[in-house]
Amino acid sequence: MRPVRKAIFPVAGLGTRFLPATKAQPKEMLTVIDKPLIQFAVEEALDAGITHLIFVIGRTKRSIADHFDGNPELDALLRSKGKDDMADYLRNIVPSHCCCIYFRQAEALGLGHAVACAAPVIEEDEPFAVLLADDLMNGPVPILTQMVRQHENTGRSVLAVQEVPRSEVSSYGIVDTDMASEGSLSRVRAMVEKPSADSAPSNLAVVGRYILDGRIMQMLKTQAPGKGGEIQLTDAIVRLIDGPGIDAYRFDGQRYDCGSKIGFIEATMAHALAHPEFGPEVRRMMKAMMASEEGKAELAD
Ligand code: G1P
Repeated sequence: MRPVRKAIFPVAGLGTRFLPATKAQPKEMLTVIDKPLIQFAVEEALDAGITHLIFVIGRTKRSIADHFDGNPELDALLRSKGKDDMADYLRNIVPSHCCCIYFRQAEALGLGHAVACAAPVIEEDEPFAVLLADDLMNGPVPILTQMVRQHENTGRSVLAVQEVPRSEVSSYGIVDTDMASEGSLSRVRAMVEKPSADSAPSNLAVVGRYILDGRIMQMLKTQAPGKGGEIQLTDAIVRLIDGPGIDAYRFDGQRYDCGSKIGFIEATMAHALAHPEFGPEVRRMMKAMMASEEGKAELAD
């Protein structure tokens, strides 16, 4: 079995849920404290042993390529000011044994189409990861690393899943799993993209981490448009169920939907509270703000 060494980052979406911030900048470059979402996803991939970072970009996404490129002027400036630590950090965002590959998705025809743009660099017998950077994921062990470990045991594709309220199933790919299986891993029996609440087979949603069988690239080439007229990754995954098989994995950790403003606020608050340098100060600020809000509410009563 080949190890998972390549990860695809589909970053060509228009980010309409986050306007006006995303009018001219990609949503993946929105920063939580001081780091863009895409860098969180790249760090998670590197931790999992990924060496080939494959970005599927669209128009207005140049800043992503710039972010992962060298910046000699900035490097020289930082070093001249004695800020060698920051210069070294920036230089190692992409370690020297790793490489970045870019594909342009000319038209936003769906997530399945975006993933298929990277087909030229994925071999048929080669498993690969897909990370959706607007899902910011944290865990005691990085989520993709947890999934790679599962894949090493089974050789099957792995989808990260979590339970969501019934009212939200229409925003996700929803899986029906083998009820007999207990614990964090279960076999997927069916999967449907964004079903209505009453037709959904469960409330177990696929979130933005996948380890997929290389053969899915062939399936994506012939995948007809599905939900919303888009070429859906979900529909091609369904075609793997009866072949090599798929596992749903309940990961150990949190996921923040940073494609939505409220999810982004939650992620920012959680990261601010956990920040080694600013955490204690942020906690004091939040307490003071809450006390002041409560005081105002009491006065108004
Ligand atoms: C995509 C997938 C969906 C998945 C979701 C996770 O949807 O199509 O199956 O559940 O990501 O975030 P999107 O959010 O791009 O509409």
